[in-house]
Amino acid sequence: MPSFPDAFLWGGAIAANQCEGAWDVDGRGPSVADVAMYRPALSNTEYAAHHAVTLAGIAEAMATSDTTYYPKRRGIDFYHRWPADLDLFAELGFTVLRVSIAWSRLYPTGFEREPNPAGVRFYRHLFEGMRDRGIKPLVTLSHYEMPLELATRLNGWADRQVIELFVRFAKTCFSEYGDLVELWLSFNEIDSVMRHPFTSGGLIAELCPDGLEAACYRAAHHQFVASALATGALRELVPGGQMGCMLTKLTTYPRTCHPDDVAATLAKNLHNHFFADVQAFGEYPAIELASLKRRGIQIPWQDGDREVLKDNTVDFVSFSYYQSATESVDPDAERTPGNTIVGVKNPYLPSSEWGWQIDPVGLRISLIELYDRYRKPLFIVENGLGYADVVQPDGTIHDPYRVDYFRAHFEQMALAIEAGVDLMGYTCWAPIDLVSASSSQMSKRYGFIYVDQDDLGNGTLERSRKDSFTWLQGVIASNGRDL
Ligand code: BG6
Repeated sequence: MPSFPDAFLWGGAIAANQCEGAWDVDGRGPSVADVAMYRPALSNTEYAAHHAVTLAGIAEAMATSDTTYYPKRRGIDFYHRWPADLDLFAELGFTVLRVSIAWSRLYPTGFEREPNPAGVRFYRHLFEGMRDRGIKPLVTLSHYEMPLELATRLNGWADRQVIELFVRFAKTCFSEYGDLVELWLSFNEIDSVMRHPFTSGGLIAELCPDGLEAACYRAAHHQFVASALATGALRELVPGGQMGCMLTKLTTYPRTCHPDDVAATLAKNLHNHFFADVQAFGEYPAIELASLKRRGIQIPWQDGDREVLKDNTVDFVSFSYYQSATESVDPDAERTPGNTIVGVKNPYLPSSEWGWQIDPVGLRISLIELYDRYRKPLFIVENGLGYADVVQPDGTIHDPYRVDYFRAHFEQMALAIEAGVDLMGYTCWAPIDLVSASSSQMSKRYGFIYVDQDDLGNGTLERSRKDSFTWLQGVIASNGRDL
């Protein structure tokens, strides 16, 4: 069995909007995540509709302080329980923990000139807590949330003003926490603005006179520029700080070897890589530019943007990987949902209860492909299995399926390292059960740690160790040798 490097970082990933709760506590402002409703059992069409947000819908959501049907407002109360949760992560042997900072905890509307001291204090204590437990923070600045007012007043990232407001927020983070945090990510799954424009970009269709697709590209451009400016600021403010980009890695296979399927697959993969290309190479790839031109989509270039992108490329490339995807030109090909996508079903792969297809070899393929393309260190910052765990009468949770899932993925990571990939570390999604990003369910559980809370918020919020907890402890203690 090939081995992992000595300095390999093992840990988990969580996001503020899915775990903190305390949505109206200590001066935090509302964020786009606070209007996301609980939607169980989404069908493929509902899944798409779920992401279409209207001003009226937002007003309706904000007229209530309900947390039952707006589960991201309550999360798993990490805001108050983080010391005990960090103890559990330390017990697992984590050397890294990926968290995100809720922008609206620091800047409640996004427009303030000075940050909210209580918000600044919260994250300082959290990062000190990690330091005290020997856990390195890996911090995402923007993980599926921005102050709600930036969405309703400016149409989110479609408006260039948001760049400046974001850079102000980023600089606050670097100057407040730079002594405790070295590793940063600018935007979670930066490509996802194309698939869920509101969650990822604060975009509201009725505020997009030239259509949602054009606004998505505008938003993506603004995020690229903001990410590059934040990277430049990090280099000035935090000596030794490192910035990574974060891609939803959607490695796509052709459904058949028919050249039309292969060509469609190539287009999919190039479009997926485009988002990391801009951040890693500092320029838009020619193929994507040509495609935008053909479709009449304008990139809102301003003087200096090209230089900013070129001068501030990322130090490492991070990505989420849940499953591979499949492409076919056949409109009747069977389809299945996946991480922020609905794609063609691969007949060779098993699926989770939520239809996401499980493909450990695809992780090795992704690692080799990305390393060969970018020649920068890679970091897997999300990978995991959503499962409706069952609690036994004695309180235990037997989850051999989770062990099988992770073991198979770790084996493929080791093989990729053996093949020459420089892999810095791995953070599983999510080490502790939390609210699902797509459906706001609790019952879609990813954790090695169980949280006693159901979809409607009933439960004690007590944490307990699933069987897989002990297994992961052993994996980390042996640096990946005991799988
Ligand atoms: C990733 C997101 O796309 O997938 C996470 O970055 C999310 O925030 C994860 O939780 C799993 O998706 P879901 O919808 O099952 O929570």
